[in-house]
Amino acid sequence: MTAVHHTARRPVVLDDVPGWFPPLDQLLFTWFLEGQARQGVHGDLLELGVYLGKSAVLLGHHLQDSEKFTVCDLFEGDAPDDANRAEATKSYGSLTRRAFEENYLAFHDGLPKVVQGPSSVITTEVAPRTCRFMHIDASHLYEHVYGDITAARELLGPSGIVVLDDFRSEHTPGVSVAAWEAVLNRGLRPLCLSTQKLYATWADPEPLQEELLAMLRDRDDITLSVQEAAGHRLIRTKSKGVRPPAFPHSRHQSDPTDQAEVPPRAPEQVPTPTRPAPRSRTRRLAADLLPPVVTRAIRRARG
Ligand SMILES: C[S@@+](CC[C@H](N)C(=O)[O-])C[C@H]1O[C@@H](n2cnc3c(N)ncnc32)[C@H](O)[C@@H]1O
Repeated sequence: MTAVHHTARRPVVLDDVPGWFPPLDQLLFTWFLEGQARQGVHGDLLELGVYLGKSAVLLGHHLQDSEKFTVCDLFEGDAPDDANRAEATKSYGSLTRRAFEENYLAFHDGLPKVVQGPSSVITTEVAPRTCRFMHIDASHLYEHVYGDITAARELLGPSGIVVLDDFRSEHTPGVSVAAWEAVLNRGLRPLCLSTQKLYATWADPEPLQEELLAMLRDRDDITLSVQEAAGHRLIRTKSKGVRPPAFPHSRHQSDPTDQAEVPPRAPEQVPTPTRPAPRSRTRRLAADLLPPVVTRAIRRARG
């Protein structure tokens, strides 16, 4: 999990927001969310673990009329146990709620509902069966992810989609255990896999998988493979240089006060300051030897 940390200047494009949200996942989020909108699926959006807002900014862009977006993060608050505290200190030590909110507001007119605290409180903040899309990306420790999946089952509506981050990264075995355990024992049905994320549902995955396969077979920038495992169809996707979907620029694009924060120009573009041409040796000598009044008279005569 290596976050892309750009300079702390105000974001103009989504990629300026530091975080962990690769182009293929940006494309898959967009495809699933736009598909739901096309099919008239309504419901709220929920993200557990926002960091500086990279995936939240994209999610907020897909809010439809009368839908709500809730996010939950510890931000600078304390974690509920030692292991989670160590995880947060190591990976997100400098995170603040304010930094998240500033990034979010650069792209949107208002904030989502922000719940500051451990993700275990989310079922007291969001009503059961109200969500159509939920991104689980908070603590990557087993007990927490187990609880977040339990919450997803309670909060998602009938055709809701849940996305689990880092379900197979080397450093997050707890997410793998929780994810596959939910698939094998708790009725979770995989929709597809990207390098970082597992997309899944408690509904029948087949109709969505058929549409997804049709979209993926049309693209030459995504590697596709399909396997069966324990009665589940696993659609595996991998980026072959896929570009993120188009996304609107932030309000800072045309803000002149941002100019000072734009990174310095590359050295070859910086004009060399103009310096007076060096004086010849004879002229330097004359200036040194002649009385100042004579030197000034000569300069005036030269014009
Ligand atoms: C991997 S980052 C989220 C990345 C983000 N979704 C993105 O697109 O860049 C994980 C976030 O989860 C938060 N977090 C860690 N443990 C948490 C917990 N128990 N409850 C809520 N949030 C937690 C961290 O503060 C951090 O901001």
